[in-house]
Amino acid sequence: MRGMEYRRLGKTEVYLPVLGFGTWEIGGRFLPDYSTDKQAIEIIRLAVKKGMKFIDTAEMYAGGHTEELVGEAIREFDREELFIATKVWSSNLRYDDVLKAMEGSLKRLKIDYVDLYQIHWPNPGVPLRETMKAMEKLVLDGKTRFIGVSNFNVRDMEKAMSYLSRTELVSNQVLYNIIDRGIEEDILPFCKENNITVIAYRPLAKGLVAREPYKSILERIGRKYGKTAVQVALNWVVRHENIVAIPRTMNYNHLEEILGSVGWKMMQEDYELLERMVPI
Ligand SMILES: NC(=O)c1ccc[n+]([C@@H]2O[C@H](COP(=O)([O-])OP(=O)(O)OC[C@H]3O[C@@H](n4cnc5c(N)ncnc54)[C@H](OP(=O)(O)O)[C@@H]3O)[C@@H](O)[C@H]2O)c1
Repeated sequence: MRGMEYRRLGKTEVYLPVLGFGTWEIGGRFLPDYSTDKQAIEIIRLAVKKGMKFIDTAEMYAGGHTEELVGEAIREFDREELFIATKVWSSNLRYDDVLKAMEGSLKRLKIDYVDLYQIHWPNPGVPLRETMKAMEKLVLDGKTRFIGVSNFNVRDMEKAMSYLSRTELVSNQVLYNIIDRGIEEDILPFCKENNITVIAYRPLAKGLVAREPYKSILERIGRKYGKTAVQVALNWVVRHENIVAIPRTMNYNHLEEILGSVGWKMMQEDYELLERMVPI
């Protein structure tokens, strides 16, 4: 596939495309919006054909409709070639609720297993041990290949890891882009040390990187490599081996631009220059 790079998932032998397709606001926000279904299915199919065989979704997105759209879009592909990640919402973290939530996701996605099942947000009202036991059962039952978390701090990750006995935590999906760099303090180093993949969400800062004042700064560096602001911003996010990113778009031209952001590297001094130049 043109220029796609692959990154090892946690300590597993599985290699993920460094760019996955994010699906928040595809098919609605908190409730379903059926008006863009055709376009959504087409763009997901195109993204997969172009190498984004990793799709990230969640039971919460559009009240389940996003998973339905992903399910429809992936029907024409070989299941084994795809990496499908979804998430259980924070109100479903009791043992039985986790198992039930997985059944709902599988039904909407029209598949019999997912590749990665993630806890969307921690819920201090539910013992994490109980949730992790349910997550582990889903691995043993063949419903998910791997377990991940999202929006977990270091303490939560340590706890989650300590409650697993037969499997390992492979990923943490967190906010990361050139403007929002909070994870660099402790989450990113912790994940590196423990071989946990960071799945960077909102890697384009919701499109802010394509606007001023960021655009001009990113373009200045990009000129050296023949790349745009968006491509420089995404390339920067995935500069470490343990990071993959899940940008989202409903626009064909934007998809092409996103695909051109990997398969090349900037000089180390330019990555550092970017960090100094971009206001956070
Ligand atoms: N785990 C969590 O709690 C969590 C939270 C937030 C997000 N996420 C995940 O992360 C994914 C990505 O985050 P996100 O959707 O919030 O934000 P994002 O990917 O940073 O940005 C998406 C926005 O950027 C625009 N865009 C995309 N490509 C562009 C380009 N080449 N030029 C200019 N604008 C461009 C898109 O508009 P167009 O459609 O017009 O291209 C869209 O408005 C989500 O879809 C979701 O899967 C997870």
